[in-house]
Amino acid sequence: MNGRHVDATVPARTLLVDFLRDTLGLTGAHIGCDTAQCGACTVHLDGRAVKSCNLLAVQADGASVVTIEGLTAADGAMHPMQAAFRDHHGLQCGYCTPGMVMSALDLVRRDPAPTRDHIREALEGNLCRCTGYQNIVAAVEAGAQAMRTAG
Ligand code: FES
Ligand code: FES
Repeated sequence: MNGRHVDATVPARTLLVDFLRDTLGLTGAHIGCDTAQCGACTVHLDGRAVKSCNLLAVQADGASVVTIEGLTAADGAMHPMQAAFRDHHGLQCGYCTPGMVMSALDLVRRDPAPTRDHIREALEGNLCRCTGYQNIVAAVEAGAQAMRTAG
């Protein structure tokens, strides 16, 4: 979990998002719908973006899980994609933002220089009630560029 080993016993029906939030205190993964539609709960499971409300905690047994908290550098610096959301006003209330960032990073892993159309397509599973998406797309484009520059 975010680079450290976690041992836990959980009831078989515990959702991954509830385990993250309630047991581990990792509240960056938000619950916006609970029906796998909004993407606010998106985390990485073995490097791929998944909706953690749509998985059981036991399904993550033995896997590498990264949440938004895991993106912060050891010195507390934001990940370039997080900084791009801040710099390009890619958020208002921020509820969708952790999921947006995790989905954006999954996209950049597959396509380091995504077009705006590809960004929109990749974020189809993430809903935002505030921004109108324009600034989110600009933020992801800038974040991808910053990541390329950083190597
Ligand atoms: S809370 Fe998981 S997709 Fe909405
Ligand atoms: S910034 Fe409010 S839901 Fe996206």
